Amino acid sequence: MSGLRKGLTSYGDAGFSLFLRKAFIKAMGYSDDALDRPIIGITNTGSDYNPCHGNSPDLIEAAKRGVMLAGGLPMVFPTISIGESFAHPTSMFLRNLMAMDTEEMIRAQPMDAVIVIGGCDKTLPAQLMGAISTNLPTIVVPTGPMVVGHHKGEVLGACTDCRRLWGMHRAGQIDAAEIETISGRLAPSVGTCMVMGTASTMACVIEALGFSLPMSATIPAVHAERRRIAEASGKRIVDLAKAGAPRPRDLITPAALRNALTVLQAIGGSTNGIIHLTAMAGRAGTRIELETVDEIGRNVPVLVDLKPSGDHYMEHFHHAGGVPRLLRELSRHLDPASPTVSGRTIGEIAEAAEIVPGQTVIRGADKPLKSTGALAVLRGNLCPRGAVIKQSAASPHLLSHTGPALVFENVEDMAARIDSDELDVTPETVLVLRNTGPIGAPGMPEAGYLPIPRKLARAGVKDMVRISDARMSGTAFGTIVLHIAPESAAGGPLALVRTGDPIRLDVAARTLDLLIDDAEWQRRAAEHAATPRRPPPARGYARLFETTVLQADEGCDFDFLQGGPQE
Ligand code: FES
Ligand code: MG
Repeated sequence: MSGLRKGLTSYGDAGFSLFLRKAFIKAMGYSDDALDRPIIGITNTGSDYNPCHGNSPDLIEAAKRGVMLAGGLPMVFPTISIGESFAHPTSMFLRNLMAMDTEEMIRAQPMDAVIVIGGCDKTLPAQLMGAISTNLPTIVVPTGPMVVGHHKGEVLGACTDCRRLWGMHRAGQIDAAEIETISGRLAPSVGTCMVMGTASTMACVIEALGFSLPMSATIPAVHAERRRIAEASGKRIVDLAKAGAPRPRDLITPAALRNALTVLQAIGGSTNGIIHLTAMAGRAGTRIELETVDEIGRNVPVLVDLKPSGDHYMEHFHHAGGVPRLLRELSRHLDPASPTVSGRTIGEIAEAAEIVPGQTVIRGADKPLKSTGALAVLRGNLCPRGAVIKQSAASPHLLSHTGPALVFENVEDMAARIDSDELDVTPETVLVLRNTGPIGAPGMPEAGYLPIPRKLARAGVKDMVRISDARMSGTAFGTIVLHIAPESAAGGPLALVRTGDPIRLDVAARTLDLLIDDAEWQRRAAEHAATPRRPPPARGYARLFETTVLQADEGCDFDFLQGGPQE
């Protein structure tokens, strides 16, 4: 059963349902000939609120052309779009809503296969979570990274340089007029942030998982090549529709997830990548253990020299050979037999990678950017279910550090006090932010990148140890411990810390501990347990979110969405 005949149960009488469907699709001018072929759904996530998807009309056109060249019928349908900078309270709060929307619209409408076009941070994970749950053949077409910006002879990228330059503005080194000029140069085109932030990270790991055609992750958003890969994806999806394979669950195997985690470590990927991969795996009934992330990180070096861990930008990664070339460098760590939507295995794609002479962006294993992977997992009395640090973007001198805590109760408290000249803080202080987890904020904002207190920033302090149950942008830099689980609002021990308590971070030993004695710990825990919690919201999506969201170590999906795909 395929094409318009899919899911013909609405009116009990299948013949009548098909007759109605035909009548209504003919209302748009389609002929019988157009209807008698594989139907390919194509998601439209274009939105004036999402510049990262600003090229989606072009990509949809190109994908449709590809589908038609291969004899399929493209059907474009809208779903939610989430633009990182515009989504309130956080884009993470909306990721699962987008995943549900994508899943149910794929399931509800007749289609034999689907192309999902997305790119801004939460969108590709949301789309794939939905696609994995429907298990319909799926190809991902990322919108692609922006091209780089330029200012005073310097190359700029959103948003690693946004943070660095804003930090300089806060410290009084860049005046108001110049920062205004810079705001026009940081993001010079449509497309996703062109550093190794979450958007680039997810595009790369999804290519490594086999869900997109080779080179899909890195082609700049505005290049003609980006449209051509959308066209090629359109052609290819018709083959998948006819064969009914590979399906998402054929691709998202434990071996492929290890490949994806290997690439995540080697690209200096975003910490958010762990949460999204865990959520995606959860949809296929597989669990990613944080220990696996750490174990892979100990063996796989960072090979891609991109900001924030290194110096370059996505277009340079692309011109150096992109993900296929990286796969080739990583081949001894990968499962080469993992299949991809292209019809070739990961090993075959690595084998065919272009060798670009003289490029320095993708390093060889003999000359890594960092000798271990980007991400490390911590355990300790402050994070019994784990915490994450992007060690590749941290300051080496702070990776082993003990200092007194300065506690901020929530984001508002932090914003109110961080710039005060009265703040009792030194470069040794450990800044602690709580109530910023999935439930606490809610939606686990990217607040984990606490700014350096203004009085220290003025004195030239660039980095401090910062710990929280929040996330941070993949574009950020610093010695920042994130995703503490369980979060403070769910009874996690972060709630017990008081200003002045010593906290010890030891990344080499993979530990994070609050150094208070047992009796004091028990006293505080009893006091905290007796303190009434804020009740969940009374209604709506906010209630659904707070009452069903899983903790960071489980991927922050809703508990009822986990598990194997359904037909
Ligand atoms: Fe959309 Fe960075 S804001 S990718
Ligand atoms: Mg981001």
